Amino acid sequence: MRKILVTNALPYANGPIHMGHLLGYIQADIWVRAMRAMGHEVTYVCADDAHGTAIMLRAEANGISPEQQIANVQAEHMRDFAGFKVDFDHYDSTHSDTNKARAQEIYLKNRDAGNIAVRPVTQLFDPEKGMFLSDRFIKGTCPKCKAEDQYGDSCEVCGTTYNATELLNPKSTLSGATPIEKSSDHYFFKLPNFGEYLQKWTRDEGRLPVSIANKLDEWFDNGLNDWDISRDAPYFGFEIPDAPNKYFYVWVDAPIGYMSSFENYVKTKRPDLNFDDYWKKDSDNEVYHFIGKDIVYFHALFWPAMLEGANYRTPTGLFVNGFLTVNGQKMSKSRGTFIKAETYLQHLNPEYLRYYFASKLSDKVEDSDLNLDDFVQKVNSDLVGKVVNIASRCAKFINTKFDNKLSATCAEPELVQSFIDAGDSIAQAYEAREFSTAIREIMALADKANQYIDEKKPWALAKIEGEEQQVHDVCSVGINLFRQLAVYLAPVLPTLAEQVQAFLQLDSFDFASRQQILLAHEIAQFQPLMQRVDPKAVAAMVDASKDSLAAPAEAPKAEKKKEKKAAEKKPEPKVGEAEIIGIEDFMKVDLRVAEVLEAAHVEGSDKLLQLTLNVGEAEPRNVFSGIREFYQPEDLKGKLVVMVANLAPRKMRFGISNGMVLAAGNGDGVWVISPETGAKPGDKVS
Ligand code: 2FM
Ligand code: ZN
Repeated sequence: MRKILVTNALPYANGPIHMGHLLGYIQADIWVRAMRAMGHEVTYVCADDAHGTAIMLRAEANGISPEQQIANVQAEHMRDFAGFKVDFDHYDSTHSDTNKARAQEIYLKNRDAGNIAVRPVTQLFDPEKGMFLSDRFIKGTCPKCKAEDQYGDSCEVCGTTYNATELLNPKSTLSGATPIEKSSDHYFFKLPNFGEYLQKWTRDEGRLPVSIANKLDEWFDNGLNDWDISRDAPYFGFEIPDAPNKYFYVWVDAPIGYMSSFENYVKTKRPDLNFDDYWKKDSDNEVYHFIGKDIVYFHALFWPAMLEGANYRTPTGLFVNGFLTVNGQKMSKSRGTFIKAETYLQHLNPEYLRYYFASKLSDKVEDSDLNLDDFVQKVNSDLVGKVVNIASRCAKFINTKFDNKLSATCAEPELVQSFIDAGDSIAQAYEAREFSTAIREIMALADKANQYIDEKKPWALAKIEGEEQQVHDVCSVGINLFRQLAVYLAPVLPTLAEQVQAFLQLDSFDFASRQQILLAHEIAQFQPLMQRVDPKAVAAMVDASKDSLAAPAEAPKAEKKKEKKAAEKKPEPKVGEAEIIGIEDFMKVDLRVAEVLEAAHVEGSDKLLQLTLNVGEAEPRNVFSGIREFYQPEDLKGKLVVMVANLAPRKMRFGISNGMVLAAGNGDGVWVISPETGAKPGDKVS
């Protein structure tokens, strides 16, 4: 029996759980349940990520203390996870005494080992608020192109990145005051001390998906930098020992929350477990972190380095999932696809979503799409139409004609055995997090079971005198096959599994229990197990999500540039507000019809697609277009689009972009503009 500790990324304590979060939590919960069903001892913990400026300011805006803020949000998070049957053994907060003690200990061990440096850093400071400003709280004029209203890290107009201190005419977005430059001592974690160690660590067998390890190589090639781990007061976090008024940056104590949550679990609920057995350096037990691809940097570099520097074990592996789109696009409030966990639960059965996600997930770091039409269709056809149907077709005969008892002999031993044998490969697929493969195999078995019942037609046999035994045998085989399917689906559908276990009156539902064929076994009265998904309920959920426009936005991931940019996009001018130009200006723009010959993702960019366009010239054009979040390459291939053909070529990190594709956008979505068919590449658009 393996002993395994599993964690999920800790959600920030300033926003609700939504569909995007749930992908990773449901994935981990399924894996935990499957590994337990295979007989392993798995401990599953999580916590709220409670520190940082964003949470401090959110509490201030809500007129409550940070402690009250994080307590309120934690209660909501725990309610939502329970609603989706994400069944943590323990759910904690990073704002705990245990976490403080561990964070300080890990820091001090690193300090004593020579892994901490102190040096002054000059930053912008808001004299009214009395606080240093991170880039997202500063706006000013771009030092390069002079565009106004740009954030403190990069210009959205010309793409230049700079230091906030280089902005012209900077203003604090918190108070409107002009920030002053001020220097203070910062504490740094000397990441380069771990360069060689990490380079090897990230290539250890099973540690990371290979695609991620390859990506990390780019960072190693560029050289690692010291990591700034301190923030000046006021900051909601833990004070750094021997450094008055300096606090640990939230990302220091966040992953330490994995340890302290486990530690509190042991202390409060499981005295039979031992903290050191899981965390000491030479521990044989396994530790896995399920995380999203956006936080790999923290988990694959800083976290193992901090642990190594403090003489603790490092995680056995990182399981990395991609992002979620809904109906093929980024979740959007105006379209009603920014669906909160709470809203979903008001309209739909959580097991539908667990099943749908399972049917999509693999061990690859790929984005997944929740297509709501496909969701309805898949759940109804697979779970209701195939799986549950088997039980409802057979149970009524066993209940009414055979006194709830299954046949004493198995009429189809080979068929039942083939279902039992299939469990080995299904278990392997679960273990490898190839859930979509597991689901495919289970559904192939469900088809086989239905075929068997269709062929035997117990409902017809039941009308023929003298065929009672046949009816009994066929339905007993049907119930046995159904039992196998329910055991295999149990990690994905825990509530259904509980109902089936009660219906079949079985003591165990783990994978090994399936070996025992049910003969002369008494079952309970059949109760309907699962309703069809009502498309109206899906529509109502989408409507209700539109209503929640005023609700708190997705947790801002304060320090991450990507989210920063998305969250803080400069509003487009309203119609009628843009600068007036003359026809002569407009005529300068050469708009042409272009055909998309190729479209591809750009390695290392979440925003761009690389397009190869035929504009009726001898050579196709290469254009980078910031539409990746909204389009899959295959959606664009072969499409006619409109492009600005006389835009000066622009050098980008990934190559030269030679033109621009026109698209409509409203902050929530982007739609590429396409001429009616009949237009040809190179045609002038006016
Ligand atoms: O990105 C996030 O949502 C972070 N709150 C995840 C933290 S995971 C861990 F390190 F604590
Ligand atoms: Zn600029």
